[in-house]
Amino acid sequence: LPSAYNEANRHYEKNSPEREELLSALQSLRGQLPKKVSSVINGQEVVSNGQTLETQMPSEQDTTFAQYSSVTSEQVSEAIESALAAKQAWQDMPFNDRAAIFLRAAELVSGKYRNELCAATMLGQGKNAWQAEIDAAAELADFFRFNVSWAEEIYDKQPTLHSPGQAGRTDWRPLEGFVYAVSPFNFTAIGGNLISVPAIMGNVVVWKPSPYNIYPSYLVHKILLEAGLPPNVIQFINGDAEMITETVYKHARFSALHFVGSSDVFRSLYAKSGEGIGKKLYKDFPRMVAETSGKNFHLVHPSADISNAVKHTIRASFEYAGQKCSACSRIYIPKSASEQFFREIKQELDHVIVGPPEQFENFTGPVIHKAAFEKITSAIDAANKDAQIETIYGGTYDGSEGLYITPTLYRAKTVDHHLFDRELFGPVLIAYVYEDAEFDSLLDKIDQQGGGFALTGAIFARDQAAVRKAENRLRYAAGNFYTNCKTTGAVIGQQSFGGSRSSGTNDKAGSMNLLMRFTSPRTLKEEF
Ligand code: SER
Repeated sequence: LPSAYNEANRHYEKNSPEREELLSALQSLRGQLPKKVSSVINGQEVVSNGQTLETQMPSEQDTTFAQYSSVTSEQVSEAIESALAAKQAWQDMPFNDRAAIFLRAAELVSGKYRNELCAATMLGQGKNAWQAEIDAAAELADFFRFNVSWAEEIYDKQPTLHSPGQAGRTDWRPLEGFVYAVSPFNFTAIGGNLISVPAIMGNVVVWKPSPYNIYPSYLVHKILLEAGLPPNVIQFINGDAEMITETVYKHARFSALHFVGSSDVFRSLYAKSGEGIGKKLYKDFPRMVAETSGKNFHLVHPSADISNAVKHTIRASFEYAGQKCSACSRIYIPKSASEQFFREIKQELDHVIVGPPEQFENFTGPVIHKAAFEKITSAIDAANKDAQIETIYGGTYDGSEGLYITPTLYRAKTVDHHLFDRELFGPVLIAYVYEDAEFDSLLDKIDQQGGGFALTGAIFARDQAAVRKAENRLRYAAGNFYTNCKTTGAVIGQQSFGGSRSSGTNDKAGSMNLLMRFTSPRTLKEEF
């Protein structure tokens, strides 16, 4: 098979053909709103008797983006049975044929569907062009290509035998039942990863995407069908999440959950699988594989290049309105550098434009929906009144048309402020200024706080000894730990991604390990 490579990013320069193409895709999509999206069971778009649901555009609350109807419980059962009926043929298909489907899909993402995917991700999720590009074009194609290449390595792995008259091998069987994939709103590529990882390893999948990513997810599914995926291998179902989960979790052949979303939802899904296991409902012990929330940190050391730390902090905390699970939302700054850090970040933030995703001069956009807006803005209201908090930047918002929150930087008087532990999933950053001499003891504090999450973290320092000390003392504080660069933007094939503690099962998206989680290996030994 061809070697995997990273998709080159488009830059959408002014007056470039790339920008013109994207603008025309945006215009065409606007003309189709509200976009009606169907569930797809056994390759057929289903008409459901279930309730009709809709989502609004984050940048225009008066505009309905997507309309869809909830599948019924019977339709969920039908999707599961249809997937299970496809299982034998799918797992028996030679790996190279399965792989070819995902490689063709990567080409469709990179070419024919690129503008449509980006336009859907921009209007539906409120991402600007560059954020949509790195997600729905580059990362999605990367996941398909790299997952195929790691699968190839796994299938090639065989034990070396030394005894004469004896042979052995590993049969990388898929799981015995089906995989339930539940994907989040914030990355179109993540849905593509949650389904492609198990499917490449020969599993069948029942996929429920977030309603706030329903149309881009529908396109991902359509692309896979067009690339040659047999229609019932991945079932695309939408609607009442609780009902869908109830139906899936009752099935004896529920073999795995592949989840990205909030820790609270994952905790309840994990516990629910335990109930089913307790009742001996399932044939297997279902695997729980997830990447969830974070309260990620930047730690600035007195030896740091402060201007570099400022630039990375703005990107990590405020790109896509802070709605990446990897976003930085707490920062620790040494007293000796605090005046420079705050001065420079304020100057830079004055040039940051917040607004609709289709305007290319905008650095960041709205938050996803009203509930998110209300959660974040009520925390802002409380912080604005809090005597323990100084507002360095922002602290304002406007939800009259789109759900816009000004990039906000607060400074807490005490390191024990609750905002160091609370994930808001928005553009709000809390800073603590520490005495330079306190650096060592601060490491323990950073490790203990952060709401129990351990997804990403970064240190900014020129002093190598300080970097090593932080790496050692913060061993379990982050699944991805970076030096002199931001907490966001792991690149597939370069940095595998995932956290431990309350941030998930740390099976690392973008790695061979994740593919192995969806196998049930069989050891074979033959004597002659
Ligand atoms: N993998 C993304 C990042 O690193 C987040 O999902 O930013």
